[in-house]
Amino acid sequence: MEDTLIILKPDALQRRLVGRILTRFEEKGLIIAAMKLVQLRREVVEEHYAVHRERPFYPGLVRYMTSHPVVPLVLRGRRAVEVCRKLLGATHGYEAQPGTIRGDFGISKSMNLVHASDSPESASKEIPLFFQSYEILSAKPADLPWVYDPWEELGDQDRP
Ligand code: CMP
Repeated sequence: MEDTLIILKPDALQRRLVGRILTRFEEKGLIIAAMKLVQLRREVVEEHYAVHRERPFYPGLVRYMTSHPVVPLVLRGRRAVEVCRKLLGATHGYEAQPGTIRGDFGISKSMNLVHASDSPESASKEIPLFFQSYEILSAKPADLPWVYDPWEELGDQDRP
C-alpha cells in the first residue's frame, strides 16, 4: 500500500466537479485516507510548488491556487502514485486522453483541476504540508479483500 497527495484545485470546486472526480478515484479502488476543504495560505503553495519557482507560470500558479478553497486528499492503494497519475492524464487538458479526469473535464494548460504527487518521494514530502499524522486514517476498509486479492501478495502457489 502506498499513499499519494491529491489536490482538487480551485477550478474543480468552482465548476462543482468535486463529487464526480472523487468518484473516479473511489471506483478504481483507492482508499480516501484523509480529506479536507481549505483555503491555502500563500506560504504553503509556495513550498508545495517550490520546484517551479523559476518558471514563467509560477506567479500565476500561486495566484490560482490561493484564489479559492481546494480539497487536499491522501489516497491510499497499491501503486497509488502511478495509478493516480494515470487516472489524471497528461498535465494540460488539451493533451490529456479522453477517459482520464483532465481529458474528460478540462481543456486548459494551467487550470488542470487536480494535482497528484509525481513519485512516492514527492508524496512523502507533500503530505505533511497538508495533513498532520493524526488526520490520516489507519483503519482498513471492510471491502479490502474484495478489492485486493491477498493471495497476489503472498504468491499464488500457496492459494487454497
Ligand atoms: P500540477 O500537476 O499541480 O503541477 C504544476 C502545475 O503548474 C500544473 O499542475 C499546472 O497547474 C501548472 N502548469 C504547468 N505547466 C504550465 C504552463 N506551461 N503554463 C501554466 N501553468 C502550468
